Amino acid sequence: IRASLALDPAFTVGDVDPRLFGSFVEHMGRCVYTGIYEPGHPTASDAGFRGDVLDLARELGVPLIRYPGGNFVSGYKWEDGIGPSADRPTRLDLAWRSLETNQVGVDEFVPWASGLGAETMMAVNLGTRGIDAARDLIEYCNIPGGTYWSDLRRKNGALSPYGIRTWCLGNEMDGPWQIGHKTAYEYGRLASETAKAMRLVDPSIELVACGSSNSSMPTFGSWEATVLGEAYDQVDYVSMHAYYEQRGDDRDSFLAASVDMDRFIDAVVATADHVRAVKRRSKRVDISFDEWNVWYLKKFAGEASLSITEAPALIEDVYSVTDAVVVGNMLISLLKHADRVKIGCQAQLVNVIAPIRTTPGGPAWKQSTFHPFALTSRYGRGTVLRVEQRSPLYETKWLGEVPLLDAVAVQGEDGVSIFAVNRSQTEPMVVDVDLRAWPGYRVESHTAIADDDPDAVNTAEDPERVVPKSLKVPDVDGGRVALELPPLSWNLVRLG
Ligand code: AHR
Repeated sequence: IRASLALDPAFTVGDVDPRLFGSFVEHMGRCVYTGIYEPGHPTASDAGFRGDVLDLARELGVPLIRYPGGNFVSGYKWEDGIGPSADRPTRLDLAWRSLETNQVGVDEFVPWASGLGAETMMAVNLGTRGIDAARDLIEYCNIPGGTYWSDLRRKNGALSPYGIRTWCLGNEMDGPWQIGHKTAYEYGRLASETAKAMRLVDPSIELVACGSSNSSMPTFGSWEATVLGEAYDQVDYVSMHAYYEQRGDDRDSFLAASVDMDRFIDAVVATADHVRAVKRRSKRVDISFDEWNVWYLKKFAGEASLSITEAPALIEDVYSVTDAVVVGNMLISLLKHADRVKIGCQAQLVNVIAPIRTTPGGPAWKQSTFHPFALTSRYGRGTVLRVEQRSPLYETKWLGEVPLLDAVAVQGEDGVSIFAVNRSQTEPMVVDVDLRAWPGYRVESHTAIADDDPDAVNTAEDPERVVPKSLKVPDVDGGRVALELPPLSWNLVRLG
C-alpha cells in the first residue's frame, strides 16, 4: 500500500492545550481503592497512596485529572469525604452499587494529583443535588479563608486554597441510567443557574456543560442545542464522551473508530456554533472530551448484578495490541481537532478501563494502551499542523469506506512528530512524506506499536509483552522520505 503526507509549518490547526492529555479518576471499582490508594501497600505513602501507581501516572504524563465521577458524582455528598477519616460515613453508592468508605475525598485527592503535576477538574453533583452543594464545594476549595467552608478546609489542614480552575456541571445528565436524569431543558436551566452561583464564588473558573453521553443517544444533537440554548453564556465547554469496542470479529470497523470520533466532534462543534449564531455571540464554546477510551461494554452486563461490596473489580478490561492502536488513533483524532477540543480525559486512570493495572498488595503494570498515550502526551505538545493526506480506502461494515492511513503532525520546540496509524491488518504501508519545508531535517526515530499477534496483551506476570518497538530509520532524500508502517500499527516518527 502507498500513501502520502504533505506538511508545512505555515499550515496549522492550532496550539495543543496540554489538558488534552488528561485522565479520569472515578470512585468506581478499584480506581481509587486498591488503585491509586492502598494504605498498607509496600509502596504506600504516609497518606496511603501507592508510590508505584504514582510513578506510572507520572510517566503516563497526565496534566489534568477529572474527579470524582462519572456516574458516581450524581449521588455523591462531597462533605462525606472531609474531616477526620474515622468519622467519615460508609455510604451506599448507587451508581455502581458499591460501598463507599469516603477514606479518599477532596482533601486527599487534590494534593495527590498536584504531587504528580496534574490539576484537578472537579465535577459537581447535579443529579441528587444542585446549586447549594456546588457553591459550598467551590467555596471550600477556592476561597482563601474567612468564610464557613474555607475555614473548615483550613481546619482540615489545607491552609492554601486549591484554586481548582475547571469544573464539570454534573455528568451524563442525558442518560436514563443517571441518578437525577433530566430533560435537556431541565438540565440546561440547572446548569446555567449553578454556573452563575459558582462564578459568583470564583469568577476565574471555567465550566463544562454536559453534552450527550454518546452519539447514539436518541437526543444527541438536540440535547446540545437545548442545553447550550439555556446555558451558553455561562459555560466555556460542552462535554463529549465516547467508548468503542470490537464487535464480533469485525476488526476492520473497530480500527476505524476514530473516524466516528472525528464525525462526532465535527457534529458537536457545528451544534455549538449554531447556538452561537442564533444568539449572535462572539464567544465560542469549545469541547471537553472528558471520557474516551476502548471499553468492552458487552462484558459489563454480568458485573452489574454483583452484590454490594467495597471496591469490587469492575470493568477491568485487558487491552491488546489492536486496542492500543485504536487508542493511539483516538489521540490522533483529538489532536486533529486541537483548535476546538481543549480538554480530553481518557477514562479511567487505574484498573477501570485503564492504562495502569494493579494487584491489591502486589505489582502495578502498564497495559498496552499506556504506551501510545504516554508517547503522544510527551511528543504531542506544540502546534498541530494541517497534514494533506492521500490514502487508499477500505470498506467497513460500520462506516463504509474509510482511509487506511490516519495521521497528524505536531511541531514542538525540538522538532516535528508525526503520529500515524496503518489500519490494514495485513499489508505494510509506505508513506511518502514531503518535508521540503524543513531543509536539513532527518528522521531521528520511528517507534511503533505493532506485533505478529494483534491480540497480545500485558499481564502482571508478563508486563512487557507489548511495548513500543524502535524501527529502522529511513534517509531523507531531496526533502522527501518514505516511512514504512507495519500492518495494524500505531507509529510515532520524530523529525529534527
Ligand atoms: O467511565 C465509566 C462510566 O462511563 C462513567 O461513570 C460514566 O460517566 C460513563 O457512562
